[in-house]
Amino acid sequence: MGLPPTLEWTVDERGDGALRLIDQRRLPRELAFLDCRTVAAVADAIRELAVRGAPAIGAAAAYGVAIGALAGGLAAAEAAGLELRATRPTAVNLAWAIDRTLAAARSAAPEPGAAVEPGAAGAVGAAALGCAHDIAAADVASNQAMGSHGVALIPHGARILTHCNAGHLATVGYGTAIGVIRAAWEAGREPTVWVDETRPVLQGARLTAWELQRLGIPATLVADVMAGSLMASGHVDLVIVGADRIAANGDVANKIGTYSVAVLAQHHGIPFYVAAPSSTIDAATATGADIVIEERDPAEVTRFGGTVIAPLGMPALNRAFDVTPAALVTAIVTEHGVHRPPYHPPI
Ligand code: MRU
Repeated sequence: MGLPPTLEWTVDERGDGALRLIDQRRLPRELAFLDCRTVAAVADAIRELAVRGAPAIGAAAAYGVAIGALAGGLAAAEAAGLELRATRPTAVNLAWAIDRTLAAARSAAPEPGAAVEPGAAGAVGAAALGCAHDIAAADVASNQAMGSHGVALIPHGARILTHCNAGHLATVGYGTAIGVIRAAWEAGREPTVWVDETRPVLQGARLTAWELQRLGIPATLVADVMAGSLMASGHVDLVIVGADRIAANGDVANKIGTYSVAVLAQHHGIPFYVAAPSSTIDAATATGADIVIEERDPAEVTRFGGTVIAPLGMPALNRAFDVTPAALVTAIVTEHGVHRPPYHPPI
């Protein structure tokens, strides 16, 4: 069983374009697709986690800006950029992709005050769409490059623990942390994977487990709280996770629970690797303390799979991400190679 594209641009028989996404809210129950034809639809899909994972939301937002530009030229593209930027604060790939796509749209727009040539709005839309296509294609290529660098970190038969979903579904294709595992599998290293369920949204149980099953990579689902026990009993050889934003000093923001896993890994002397494209590195953010951590609806914590599990009226806190200090990270894998601290710039 293969993996369909996480997101792609489709054009119908009337010539109208749409961003088609795997609707990740419905996995693993059903593989369903969502066609986004407006900027608002793309923004909703990002906010509600129909598409999620730092590189995937970056590419989706780029297509969202292109949808705006195709519909209403540069002014609409700029408005789309503002709307999409406000959807989720932590993953820097979102702002990075919006900025790139807007720059492409602006470079195709007439100079202020210049006579507007017929087709100028079309040129802005085409430039933005071309940029979104480039971002999407580059993401897959960069994940494959990350895989080829990261494979050196994976010994034969390694038992790997991962948290959240940093795979095909979190990217345009192939994956970052799961991309490294995938590259090791394709190289015949026979890795096996412990999949943290990743409370509260269950990206591990719902998405990583689904993906690894489809790829045929042996994996076992565990409750998040089991990581320490597995490490203590000698059943974990290394940890690899993705990232939403890496500060200039190497601190890593990733899915809530990542920090706990990193502390456990250090306590047990187990390597803790992060795989992320260079677009996740935010040189403008000095340390992890400066990273804005998204807080989501407490209902994600008080419910489990739609069932209420807490007393009515019980307050709940739902931080979506945490920061793992650079000192707990053994190495960062990007499309350029394996980087070990101290990270004298650039990572
Ligand atoms: O809230 P999510 O599902 O968007 O969080 C995703 C993660 O934390 C991933 O680990 C991260 O974006 C890296 S994806 C390659």
